Amino acid sequence: MGKTGRDWTQIYAIYGVDDWQTPLFLLLNAVGFSLLSVAFLLYFEPICFFLQHFLPGPASARFAAGFSGSVTALSAVCLFFAATNFFYSAVSLHWEMSQRIVSLVPDWSSVKHALDLGCGRGILLNAVALQLKKSGSSGRVVGLSPARPQARTGSPSPNLTLRTAGLEGVQEYVTCRPGDPRTLPFSDRYFDVVVSAAFVHTVGKEYGAKSAAAAAERMRVLGEVVRVLKAGGVGVVWDLVHVEEYVQRLNELKMEEIRVSERVTAFMVSSHIISFRKPCQHFVGSAEVRLDWR
Ligand SMILES: C[S@@+](CC[C@H](N)C(=O)[O-])C[C@H]1O[C@@H](n2cnc3c(N)ncnc32)[C@H](O)[C@@H]1O
Repeated sequence: MGKTGRDWTQIYAIYGVDDWQTPLFLLLNAVGFSLLSVAFLLYFEPICFFLQHFLPGPASARFAAGFSGSVTALSAVCLFFAATNFFYSAVSLHWEMSQRIVSLVPDWSSVKHALDLGCGRGILLNAVALQLKKSGSSGRVVGLSPARPQARTGSPSPNLTLRTAGLEGVQEYVTCRPGDPRTLPFSDRYFDVVVSAAFVHTVGKEYGAKSAAAAAERMRVLGEVVRVLKAGGVGVVWDLVHVEEYVQRLNELKMEEIRVSERVTAFMVSSHIISFRKPCQHFVGSAEVRLDWR
């Protein structure tokens, strides 16, 4: 049972795992390295004997065999840990973080339009929809799905996302809309709330995650989030690695109440939740100005 009172097997049964190839790859490697380290243990003497053909003296052969066996065992442990962390991050942690994200919006009952950027299979999307349902709101949440199906990353289709909404009993609160997060297909100041989970860091990855071009793409996404938010609207983004640069960008965009959560290890890297509010008015000096949110 997770901290949020929901059984992880139930979450897994509904959503499965986005990018399941990664934990599977890690698990297979972990099993391979485990078998190798067991072989080192069982056949230590024959391995030492074999290594003596290449190394000077039995002592160095025993050292080489012992060292290789230890490194293999250590690698197996690290790979098991990584596979478990990926699996935990994709299912149980994802659900818990989604609950935390929705809890950062002070009042769901007044929310008419919410957006989930990069909705995937809909863990966060449905958490928002459940919140709308619980608060008795007449609001709806839109999930942004890729403009084109991404066979390479196994991106889920909008149909699959809507199916998970059906399984959670919130299908009437949810729609999916294909689009590019860098040029969102929505008008200015449309949403009361914009949320996103483990998505923004994926934008621009094709340029290399650490490149200036990828950083510029991520900044464009944040600019779009701010553009589509209503004045006084709330944004909550849970993301990996690049959080400092988001805070800087949100400050440049003159967002208010920017808050960053403590560090949470997800998918083997650091992650944080950032929440902020779009100001009702923006003043520079004595004259009111409207920012170009793009
Ligand atoms: C790690 S998952 C995020 C999961 C999701 N936020 C959730 O709460 O379940 C990343 C998702 O981003 C989606 N994605 C990738 N490129 C996208 C794009 N250009 N526009 C919208 N979504 C995209 C993929 O479908 C993928 O499932």
